[in-house]
Amino acid sequence: MKNILYISCSVRKYSENETQHQSISRMLGEQFLNTFSQTTHKVEIIHRDLSVKQPAFIDEKFIAAAFAKGALSEEQHLVLAESDEIIKEVVNADIIVIASPMYNYGMPAVLKAWFDLAIRVDKTFSFDLARGDKPLEPILSGKTLVLLSSWGEFAFKKGESQYHLNHLSSHIEQLAPYLGAEAFYEIASEYQEFDDDRHKRSKALAIEEINNLVHMLSNQNS
Ligand SMILES: Cc1cc2nc3c(=O)[nH]c(=O)nc-3n(C[C@H](O)[C@H](O)[C@H](O)COP(=O)(O)O)c2cc1C
Repeated sequence: MKNILYISCSVRKYSENETQHQSISRMLGEQFLNTFSQTTHKVEIIHRDLSVKQPAFIDEKFIAAAFAKGALSEEQHLVLAESDEIIKEVVNADIIVIASPMYNYGMPAVLKAWFDLAIRVDKTFSFDLARGDKPLEPILSGKTLVLLSSWGEFAFKKGESQYHLNHLSSHIEQLAPYLGAEAFYEIASEYQEFDDDRHKRSKALAIEEINNLVHMLSNQNS
């Protein structure tokens, strides 16, 4: 049995039968899940759609409860409830699939809010000054993180000329270990704003890369 946690966050929807204003990151996410379900015997998918159920922003009460030592009050349990639920989903996942658009060269605000609830001291990382200048260490391990993204411009992939402007991929790759991900893969569709042949080719390539990745992951897991 493979447990997949699927996080989607585009404000646009995706439905197989429509052609206008469709979310490309959601299309890539569905491609991954459908292919994975076809190639792997038993798959359980938990889908958390952040555009439907927006995560709360953390606040002072949240920080106080998250860092509290000893027994928590009833109110503190309530303050942490959404984070507890999100962390449970992360803990249970073998593969975390994040389908995300690039907004303003970074991740959508709802996805950042999800990360702020998902990555928590003594739950997903430990903090110990005895470790010197690197006090943080991940607690979870053995997971795979797959980032499926879409952006309007181009040349944002690793090694390309505009990678330094891409704060979506680098940020999520940096956070991956704190979700317990020891392997990170990214597949992106580019050129959405140009709506030309380059865009069509980029989408087709992303779909091909997803199929290859799914086969690779299914073989690893079998
Ligand atoms: C609010 C907003 C901000 C965006 N910012 C960028 C950007 O900084 N760079 C870029 O290449 N594309 C940008 N785009 C284009 C989107 O990344 C592109 O439309 C992508 O396909 C959106 O993902 P989706 O198709 O899954 O909704 C932006 C789009 C929106 C709506």
